[in-house]
Amino acid sequence: MQKLFAVFVLVIVVALAAACGGGDKAATTGGGAAGNASAGETLFKQALVGQNPGCATCHSVDGSQLVGPSLKGVAERAASRVQGESAAEYLHQSLVEPNAYVVEGFSEGIMPSYKGLSEAQLNDLVAYLLTLK
Ligand code: HEC
Repeated sequence: MQKLFAVFVLVIVVALAAACGGGDKAATTGGGAAGNASAGETLFKQALVGQNPGCATCHSVDGSQLVGPSLKGVAERAASRVQGESAAEYLHQSLVEPNAYVVEGFSEGIMPSYKGLSEAQLNDLVAYLLTLK
């Protein structure tokens, strides 16, 4: 129990640090355009993101397949995934509604939804994903 509490406190501290980290207080757009890619990279590599496992548990960025598809090149694929959605819109949706579009060869229901994150954190993650070419 005590250990769980310690983890909880750690998550809050990390979340606060991430929230205060970016000097750039750009407006949120929901489309990820205003995110901070380096804050997003830090989030991506965390062991826990909110109450869910961190992204890097399931996704590599170097082309090797873990539980989920490698996110290498996702910035380029994202624009053509769903008709009418920009790359940033698709990536944002992938985080909050992972089952809205399921990548071929993978099952739905495996990636957790990160809709509990703040809009700023989602935008940071999207900004980072947009650097993966
Ligand atoms: C428990 C494993 C798991 C975790 C943790 C996870 N994902 Fe996923 N993710 C998957 C699986 C499996 C898929 C493919 C099925 C689907 O589309 O839902 C996927 C799909 C995606 C896609 C779509 C890729 C494409 O080529 O269209 C993106 C983007 C993505 N994840 C980003 C993330 C990010 C960012 C995080 C952390 C905030 C994360 N994922 C955490 C398993 C995971």
